[in-house]
Amino acid sequence: MSQIVDGFNRQVDYLRLSVTDRCDFRCVYCMSEDPEFLPRQQVLSLEELSWVAQAFTELGVKKIRLTGGEPLVRTDCDQLVKLLGNLPGLEDLSMTTNGSRLTKLAQPLFDNGLSRLNISLDTLNPELFTQLTRNGKLDRVIAGIDAAIAAGFRKIKINAVILRGQNDHEVIDLVNFCRARNLDIAFIEEMPLGVIDERKQSRHCSSDEVKALIEAQYPLIPSSKRTGGPARYYQMADSSTHVGFISPHSNNFCHECNRVRVTVEGRLLLCLGNENSIDLKAIVRAHPGDIERLKHAILDGIQFKPQSHHFDQEGVQVLRFMNATGG
Ligand code: 5AD
Ligand code: SF4
Repeated sequence: MSQIVDGFNRQVDYLRLSVTDRCDFRCVYCMSEDPEFLPRQQVLSLEELSWVAQAFTELGVKKIRLTGGEPLVRTDCDQLVKLLGNLPGLEDLSMTTNGSRLTKLAQPLFDNGLSRLNISLDTLNPELFTQLTRNGKLDRVIAGIDAAIAAGFRKIKINAVILRGQNDHEVIDLVNFCRARNLDIAFIEEMPLGVIDERKQSRHCSSDEVKALIEAQYPLIPSSKRTGGPARYYQMADSSTHVGFISPHSNNFCHECNRVRVTVEGRLLLCLGNENSIDLKAIVRAHPGDIERLKHAILDGIQFKPQSHHFDQEGVQVLRFMNATGG
């Protein structure tokens, strides 16, 4: 049982920990073309990250996901995995990555105790891939996915953000890519982070539309699979691939939210769709290694977790881009 319980009686047992705001890609839905990254001094060190993680696991958090930015651009990321892998009580240590460095890193990460990987892949068309990521190379990412499979990772999940008029015609191709490799896939509605303009509104593609496209070819059977996250999963009759939908617009999942985030600057962010946060970095820097003090701050802070996000397609609310938040 997690001791972290908010004012709406939701138990928090899942932490998303951002380790860097940097990335080798510039995905159109995640970053501006020319982002300003934080000076390193403002980013939590390896030791500080491990203290924060320890405080959360001592309070009963069982799952930690490392995010970014792109976690693997941080050169000490495999050391971090090793440190966190040894935390008592931690049952599941996972990572969200763009896959660009997995050909080198998949094996060491697996050997250091990383349990699961989510890899982003929005298109199988090399030109469109470079357009959506503004500079990524599709073949490197596919080689990275295959390296992760070869390294021994089970139940790798592909994340695809579907944008109308860009990659919505590739839904079936992406599903087939995953079926061929026994991967799961989650289709994600773009979240209105950063500056919202009309272009962003008109490229919104709902999970229902994506699901209908798939069902025209493969009947989807509702699955009881829950990953403790906002995705709803379906099975297919003839494949072990699960298909999930993460629908911040069309399906409000806040009532069962079990998670908090720690941003790259060490702010405990209570909800992706709100700016409320608690400055854990100030605490670790004033009192290095004082886990009890961090635990108190987390328990006090959790009371400010809001009941719900307020994403709607009209209007801008959250000016933070995803890379500053932890994807
Ligand atoms: N909306 C939805 N998902 C996003 N991601 C990044 N930005 C957004 C956004 N605006 C997700 C992508 C990527 C992961 C790192 O973060 O799924 O795979
Ligand atoms: Fe990098 Fe992931 Fe953001 Fe793309 S979505 S820019 S890969 S952090």
